[in-house]
Amino acid sequence: MIPTPEKRIAEFERKGFGMFIHYGLYSQMGKGEWIMCNGRIPDEKYRGLFDTFTAKDFDARAIARLAKKSGMNYITLTTRHHEGFSLYDTKGLSDYDAPHAPGCRRDLIREFVDACNDEGIMPMFYHTTLDWHVKSFNDDFPAYLKYLRDSVEVLCTEYGKIGGLWFDGNWSKPEVDWEEDALYATIRRHQPDALIINNTGLGAQGKLGNPEIDSVTFEQARPQPMNREGMEKYVAAEMCCTMNDHWGVGDNDYNYKSLPELIETLCACRRIGANFLLNVGPTGDGAILPMQKCLIEGIGSWISACGGSIYDSKPTAIEGDGKNFAIADENRTYFFIHDLGIFGQAHVTVAGNGEGIKHFRNVKGRVKSIKYVDNGEELTFIQKWDDLFIYAPACPYGSNYVVRVAEAEIEAE
Ligand code: GLC
Repeated sequence: MIPTPEKRIAEFERKGFGMFIHYGLYSQMGKGEWIMCNGRIPDEKYRGLFDTFTAKDFDARAIARLAKKSGMNYITLTTRHHEGFSLYDTKGLSDYDAPHAPGCRRDLIREFVDACNDEGIMPMFYHTTLDWHVKSFNDDFPAYLKYLRDSVEVLCTEYGKIGGLWFDGNWSKPEVDWEEDALYATIRRHQPDALIINNTGLGAQGKLGNPEIDSVTFEQARPQPMNREGMEKYVAAEMCCTMNDHWGVGDNDYNYKSLPELIETLCACRRIGANFLLNVGPTGDGAILPMQKCLIEGIGSWISACGGSIYDSKPTAIEGDGKNFAIADENRTYFFIHDLGIFGQAHVTVAGNGEGIKHFRNVKGRVKSIKYVDNGEELTFIQKWDDLFIYAPACPYGSNYVVRVAEAEIEAE
């Protein structure tokens, strides 16, 4: 039996698409969030970044609006990353936080939560569990774990209702007891509806951890279908990825994924019911790079043209050829058709023409009608038992949807 998801988990799955933000002192160097470790920068020297941190262009409202208009329903922001610096007011637990940074003196998490609440976006808090700054991490681990718990308690009590916590770093000390039960109990005590996620890292995709965990993670990977048969609890799945090769901004990282690739990745996530958490790495001053903004807006535009169906739909047993698949909500089944190309005349259309019959297997129930979501065009089809053959025209000249969605009305058997 597949367990029924708890409300917060079912709601999280419906959110479908979120924004990940990696922002911290490291952003000023433009060499990724691991530069302190990879560049072997001693803490005293790294502290210089604390003195120069201003966040003068960190505009939480603009970020929340960008997410909202692009179809993202939640934002997961690094409240503290491995460097140990907090964007929130740690309430005296440490003075290594944004409100104490001489050039900043703002609680960026307060700004973030307020902006999310105003825009109807769910705020999620990424929080590191490993720490390169505080001595106790290596010298007195029980004291460190208390510091971590107290820090999380601040996040759970100072900012009203939050979406959840997204932890990362347990993989750094696989042999120790991280006292996860105590950490998660702190969250459940103050924020019973918050999601708890703990990234299993690059080496352990989709691994199930502590029973309190609400979603597995697939870092930088195409998520695999989840087999929830016989699970104690229904857990969601989330795939997080970078737009280029860094989470924290890399000034000379030009290796960007293309818009079609990102659209297809979003679709591939929804195919198996996973959320897609797409990262941006703001500049040292906190601005979103034009390239990153542009890619997000492009996905948003695709979602409003043909992907509105990505949120409430669930995976189905229907199988398509290649990348093609179908997901369904209570009323409709959505066929995601790839590589159609553009319909046009040979002298002008270079994108090719992938128009033709698309075969879907295992379609239960009688198909009554099928139409493209983007323009409402009715499609011709033949159904033979569980086999469905849709004649899928290419994209009309003037468009190329990359993935085109057709919605079908199917009468239950
Ligand atoms: C890795 C990295 C970290 C990044 C995270 C995002 O675990 O250590 O820098 O924040 O992935 O998923």
